[in-house]
Amino acid sequence: MTGTDVLREPLRNRGTAFTSEERERQGVTGLLPPRVETIDEQVARVLANLRTKSTALEKYLYLSAVQSENETLFFHTLISHLEETVPIVYTPTVGEACLAWSRIYQRPRGLYVSARERGRIGAVLNNWPQSDVAIIVVTDGGRILGLGDLGANGMGIPIGKLALYVACAGVDPARCLPVMLDVGTDTESVRDDPLYLGLRAPRLAGPEYDALVAEFVVAAKDRFPGVLIQFEDFANVNAFRLLARYRERVCCFNDDIQGTGAMGLAGLHAARRITGARLADERLLFFGAGEANVGIGTLVAAALVREGLSEAEARGRCWFIDSRGMVTTDRSDLAEYKRPFAKDHRPVADLLDAIEAVRPTALIGASGQPGTFTVPVLAAMARLNERPIIFALSNPTSKAECTAEQAYRSTAGRAIFASGSPFPPVELGGRTFYTGQGNNSYIFPGAGLGVLTAGCTRVIDEMYFAAANALAGQVDAEDLACGRIFPPAVRMREVALAVATAVAEAGYEQGVATRPRPADLAGQIRRNMYAATYTPCAGD
Ligand code: NAI
Repeated sequence: MTGTDVLREPLRNRGTAFTSEERERQGVTGLLPPRVETIDEQVARVLANLRTKSTALEKYLYLSAVQSENETLFFHTLISHLEETVPIVYTPTVGEACLAWSRIYQRPRGLYVSARERGRIGAVLNNWPQSDVAIIVVTDGGRILGLGDLGANGMGIPIGKLALYVACAGVDPARCLPVMLDVGTDTESVRDDPLYLGLRAPRLAGPEYDALVAEFVVAAKDRFPGVLIQFEDFANVNAFRLLARYRERVCCFNDDIQGTGAMGLAGLHAARRITGARLADERLLFFGAGEANVGIGTLVAAALVREGLSEAEARGRCWFIDSRGMVTTDRSDLAEYKRPFAKDHRPVADLLDAIEAVRPTALIGASGQPGTFTVPVLAAMARLNERPIIFALSNPTSKAECTAEQAYRSTAGRAIFASGSPFPPVELGGRTFYTGQGNNSYIFPGAGLGVLTAGCTRVIDEMYFAAANALAGQVDAEDLACGRIFPPAVRMREVALAVATAVAEAGYEQGVATRPRPADLAGQIRRNMYAATYTPCAGD
């Protein structure tokens, strides 16, 4: 590598932090201004620049440029300023970035595997320069947040998810691979955009689609043995089927279904510390019956079965509404994954009617339909419950079923509220409510790290029960007192460590781990976490 090559290689580049000796050895003396800086000085410059940007998208672009230049600096900035940077590199800004992807695209990052490469996906994976990849986050862009089918523009999602793997769980960035499986898009406005960078074709479907995914999964396992594959933002028509097909064969999980399930269960555990109720006392009304909510309902029901309820009783606690009304047994249009939750009940089309019929203790929105938790809906929840649990999980912010402000105001400050995207604190009646972010970002980084640590061959439900307990255990009395049932973003690294330890432990207990269990599991995980610091260069 020439000195210029070193400066262009983001995993190696340290910019102005190269010491004089390193500059000599790497051949970069003179290619940098003379002053040698510490990483903290570099971070101060990044933050100063970041704060001059007036829009979230500009901040996203600026941080992406830093990442393309110097990954250690990028991640050091994230790790030291999680609360400020996570909403930029992840939800909600990443949604804006995906919508604008074709316009803002500057540099390649991650791997684009398109249907054009059918039959030679292995060769495409061989083009990836790192051979020690531990985690792949793959999307086909089919359901990007609540924004719909964005095709190849969805690449921002795996990139953002993996940024959190590194920043929160300390996975080495060199071991992370974002993948866009470009199977076309059915969104005409995306396809017809003159700047669109993906395949200009309708989505593959049926056996052709399944064959492409299968080829990718086999090639990925072949090229990166032991890799953990995270399926992300696939549309529900594919997500449930792919999960059922691969969960027993490959080390993989679907974050929208399983990760969200654990996050939702953790939120309920934490909320119960306020209400004093047992899980079996809850009646949950899910607004939206897709991946996120069915994921939560499935894990909650499984948790109730572990507590001694029959399957029927456990599912009886979970009621669902989708775009066609309440999920009832008389409906002939129900997808397979909704059927276990169908109720013998008269048809109910309206959310308010459903609330009166079910009298839920918790209302959980993951519908992608903004503003659907109206004042009357929230007021009805407050009339039925001393402390109504309200989760507005849809992302990004523009899709939330209600805002934090609406939730607190319409319930006289009694709501136990969480949202998928962050909301600013709310002042009401002389109190300040800090809302918790109910986002699977509190689960997947730690869960993935735990699976990798123990060398698990499968991702199993027990891991998600453990992850949910670990996350809920990270919520302290002070958080609860100010309205938070999830820890603040500033503690995401500690949360990931706790979740990773619990998940690895579950892997050992359930016999899916292949690595020897260290005596001090948590200590070992902590010591191995990537901290984004400059260690001496090889040869120094
Ligand atoms: P999905 O497409 O699988 O499900 C959406 C569901 O909402 C479907 O059942 C649909 O019938 C229902 N729906 C649509 N319009 C409706 C209406 N007017 N009334 C009632 N139901 C309606 O999508 P998925 O994966 O479940 O995601 C949904 C939302 O949840 C998205 O905005 C996504 O960003 C968010 N999400 C949030 C997560 C978090 O960690 N906070 C994790 C995963 C998803």
